[in-house]
Amino acid sequence: MTVLREYTEGLVRFLSADLEYYCGGKQQATTDLPVFYNPRMQVNRDLSVIFLAAYMVTHRVDRVCEPLAGSGIRTLRYLTESPGDFKAIMFDNNPEAVRVARENIEMNGLQDRASVRRGDARVLLLTESRSLRFDFVDVDPFGSPAPFVNAAVQSILPREGLLALTATDMPALCGIFPEVAQRKYGGLSVRAPFSHEAAARLLIGLATSVAGMNDASIEPLASLSTDHYVRVWLHLRASKSTANVHARERGIIRYCQQCSSFDVQPLAEATTDSPLQHVPGCRGEVRAAGPLWIGSLYNTEFLEHAQTCDVNRDVLHKRSGKILELMRQEAAMTRWPYIDLHALCDIYGLSPPKMAHVMETLIEQGYKTVRTHFRPTAIRTTASVADVLTVLRSLRGGG
Ligand SMILES: C[S@@+](CC[C@H](N)C(=O)[O-])C[C@H]1O[C@@H](n2cnc3c(N)ncnc32)[C@H](O)[C@@H]1O
Ligand SMILES: [Zn+2]
Repeated sequence: MTVLREYTEGLVRFLSADLEYYCGGKQQATTDLPVFYNPRMQVNRDLSVIFLAAYMVTHRVDRVCEPLAGSGIRTLRYLTESPGDFKAIMFDNNPEAVRVARENIEMNGLQDRASVRRGDARVLLLTESRSLRFDFVDVDPFGSPAPFVNAAVQSILPREGLLALTATDMPALCGIFPEVAQRKYGGLSVRAPFSHEAAARLLIGLATSVAGMNDASIEPLASLSTDHYVRVWLHLRASKSTANVHARERGIIRYCQQCSSFDVQPLAEATTDSPLQHVPGCRGEVRAAGPLWIGSLYNTEFLEHAQTCDVNRDVLHKRSGKILELMRQEAAMTRWPYIDLHALCDIYGLSPPKMAHVMETLIEQGYKTVRTHFRPTAIRTTASVADVLTVLRSLRGGG
């Protein structure tokens, strides 16, 4: 018999396995919990509630599916906190999770709007969507979402919809195991200060390929990297012509481990006759991440809806609103992968000046420069790594 405990997150009260009992009071959820709930993913769920509401500003949503539901908290929060009267279906192959999720539906009086089925998500996504496709599918697995992406895409098409994917397999996505990333995401990952951005781009790259195989296109609406996972929200549409245009948004990011310079090369234009521009004097070895998505990571209008849509923000984690604001600021600048100022200072033995001073100086010099939610010590800028380095050196001691 599972030892359960009552939790509250957002506006929802629910039961899940007692983390103190099973994880020795660490509040750190492990995958062998009898029913999975990770309180540390609250920001992920907060933003997910907001982004569903933002999507509903411009699209009708009748049917939501969470194929890997655990305790059911995510879907219960959608039903309680996002506007509208849509219906939701959850799946899980763990019978205890299914039992507890059903209890949670009843506890929240949502029997008319929610149901749970036990089974393999890959099968149920297809079978449960045949008579009526889903408008929103939220794939939130242990590790990589790769095994579920094709079924998730096909459970929405040929209608359009919102597809959210979480990946927690960061060692593969951040360059510790590049060959695993190649196998699961169709591109190599890289160990670099911007590896979390490459991770989000590999995940979008996979979704784009799978959508493309199904004659559909994907447009990223939002991308999140925090703690130990990445998550993307994608607008999926059955459109061969847009899919063809988006196919041009595949490329590689080249990176020199010695001087930290990088550039982005569209796959169609990648040639060996345009070598990477290093910091003057450097002849370091160049590595490449990808092929991956090199297009935008956000849709600005969508983020504006996210900031104003009808959601009770008082119950959200205080980080959620801050992350959303940083996303909006960086949305127009994602053609320039972020530069981590602390990592650059480490490489060149500099003590990091104040971030605000570096940004002010770059802006004064005519470079567009913004912060990024990906890292508190990083910026996106039209300046090259060599230009940023010159500014860091000029501010040394005076920052
Ligand atoms: C990370 S947890 C889900 C957490 C949940 N989405 C949340 O926000 O709290 C992943 C869940 O997927 C379930 N699962 C793993 N493989 C599955 C499969 N092939 N089909 C259905 N469920 C699966 C596990 O039992 C677990 O409950
Ligand atoms: Zn170099």
